[in-house]
Amino acid sequence: MRNECIYLKTKIVLNSIEDTKKLAKIIADYAFSGMIIGLAGDLGSGKTTFTKYLAKNIGVNDNINSPTFTILKIYQGNYDLYHMDVYRLEDIGYDYELDDFIYGEGVSVIEWYTYIRDQLPEELLTIDIQADGEFQRSLLIEGKGRYEKIIEAINNRYSN
Ligand SMILES: Nc1ncnc2c1ncn2[C@@H]1O[C@H](COP(=O)(O)OP(=O)(O)OP(=O)(O)O)[C@@H](O)[C@H]1O
Ligand SMILES: [Mg+2]
Repeated sequence: MRNECIYLKTKIVLNSIEDTKKLAKIIADYAFSGMIIGLAGDLGSGKTTFTKYLAKNIGVNDNINSPTFTILKIYQGNYDLYHMDVYRLEDIGYDYELDDFIYGEGVSVIEWYTYIRDQLPEELLTIDIQADGEFQRSLLIEGKGRYEKIIEAINNRYSN
């Protein structure tokens, strides 16, 4: 059984797109082969926007756009980026072909990860985004194991 208590977590508030860009940079600095980032939040909360900035910081030169209709898009970079949007899987169920990527060598970013949470490894970084206003976003970020140092880095950067 999953013990939620062992996840390190932090809450931060971003006030601009520039703040989202900075957060993506901090997280990208800790990128590793096999990294998994789950993103949740309502339509337009900023999941794809965050992914775009993360992509730039892991050496992806192509412009990324939302993979909603394809579920997965692959980009080459210093780490390959597997950008997934699993919104549609809420109705049709998990697609096991995604395992090749989730357990692959690149960095997986999964929009709407909560829809496939049971199929994902316990060890991942999750970011739940809430839009408070036009530019303000409240984020709950959780991770364990190899992701704990990312939470610590974010806490150091945003401690007040
Ligand atoms: N601080 C912020 N961080 C991220 N995006 C922001 C911020 N402030 C405003 N925005 C705007 O919010 C919108 C976020 O859209 P985006 O496509 O990233 O959302 P999404 O969560 O991926 O939506 P969807 O569920 O449709 O995939 C963009 O228009 C972006 O410019
Ligand atoms: Mg999106």
